[in-house]
Amino acid sequence: MTTRDAPRSDFDHHSSTFAARAFEISDTLLAECPVSWSEHYGGFWVVADYDHVTEAFRDHESFSSAKGASVPDLSFGSTHLPTTLDPPEHHVFRKYLNPWFTLEAMRKREPQMRELIRELIEGLAAKGTWDFVPDLADIMPGTMILVMLGMSTDRRDEFLGAMERGMSNQGTTDPGVLAQMAEDKRWLQEQLLGEIADRRKNPSDDLMSYLANEPLSDGRQISDSQIIDIVMVLLLAGFHTTSGALAALLVHLEQHPDQRRHLQQNPDMLPTAIEEIVRVYSPATAMARTLTKDMEYGGVQMAKGDRALMVIMAANRDPEHFTDPAEVDLQRSERGSVAFGWGVHRCLGIHLARVLLRLQMELLFEIIPDYHVDLAAVRLSTTLGIGYVHTSVPGHAHAVV
Ligand code: HEM
Repeated sequence: MTTRDAPRSDFDHHSSTFAARAFEISDTLLAECPVSWSEHYGGFWVVADYDHVTEAFRDHESFSSAKGASVPDLSFGSTHLPTTLDPPEHHVFRKYLNPWFTLEAMRKREPQMRELIRELIEGLAAKGTWDFVPDLADIMPGTMILVMLGMSTDRRDEFLGAMERGMSNQGTTDPGVLAQMAEDKRWLQEQLLGEIADRRKNPSDDLMSYLANEPLSDGRQISDSQIIDIVMVLLLAGFHTTSGALAALLVHLEQHPDQRRHLQQNPDMLPTAIEEIVRVYSPATAMARTLTKDMEYGGVQMAKGDRALMVIMAANRDPEHFTDPAEVDLQRSERGSVAFGWGVHRCLGIHLARVLLRLQMELLFEIIPDYHVDLAAVRLSTTLGIGYVHTSVPGHAHAVV
């Protein structure tokens, strides 16, 4: 079956239709056409079922990352290392970066993260009313990366603002927005080049010093532009993923007060709750690959050069793999969520994300135990292209209302 006679899905992950009915559309893909062809963005395969999504991620020889993980191409940013590398080069870069992001490395940073989060949440408590998205969720992942890089957090808002605009406007063709994104990119590069030059002169024990001075395991020194590509990914990767997960968790718990009560009484259950939220809401909605050869896959004939989009959100709702897949089950023991990816590109920041999410909830329960989310004012993004994102989750402390 070729693109001409393959099942058509009209799937467009950047559309407002998908944003409004993401779960329903994911379930329809699973039930009616687990592998289909969409004509959007020049045409791409839509892969929805668990087995084909995980197998494609595992088979990096047939499904290459070299052309990036987005459909259409991410207009903001750079070559995106290590995202756009295939093995064996990918392995060299992951080996280089992994030690900074292990579970152990994150445990060591936990006290530092706890303090940063405490400060933010005490700030929310002092204000009385706030928006969880800009005032907490969007701040923490980028802040921790800036801290790890040894960069001043004074310019945090400028950095996070530029990254936010880049992420939110993916798929845009608006010339004004594209010009702003180009200017943001130029500004970010200028800042990062300054930091690299500084660490060459004054090396320290931070991640930026490591990138600027430490060669890869095969002895090669990475170039300035490669360092920028890595740092851009690190700064971008927490947006709309970790922040999306926190917003989804807060909204979910407001809608399910029994689960919220249970977690407040048993905060040791938070890691399971976080895994479930990340699976069901799949903040990294979909990731793309490019076919390196003609091959039959999922009952269709794919051709070399075709783009294929793995719909993580759908795979995580596949009833063939998960019992009652749409349920956030705090007792679930089934493993195998694809939310953090699969295979060689599985999320580098998985431990950072898990610790950040757990600490934010622990400290929120501790500092503002009677916090409340104003469900009527919650706003989901009108484009969920690569992220299940809330644009606004207003909150307040019960006492002030
Ligand atoms: C709930 C939060 C997060 C989710 C759901 C998530 C999800 C994902 C997914 C699905 C991938 C695979 C991409 C692919 O296959 O092409 C990935 C890769 C990646 N993630 Fe995360 N991510 C999260 C948080 C973070 C954070 C906080 C960081 C910060 C360091 C991060 C850094 C990365 C990097 C660098 C990669 C590329 C890895 C590679 O290509 O080898 N992620 N993430």
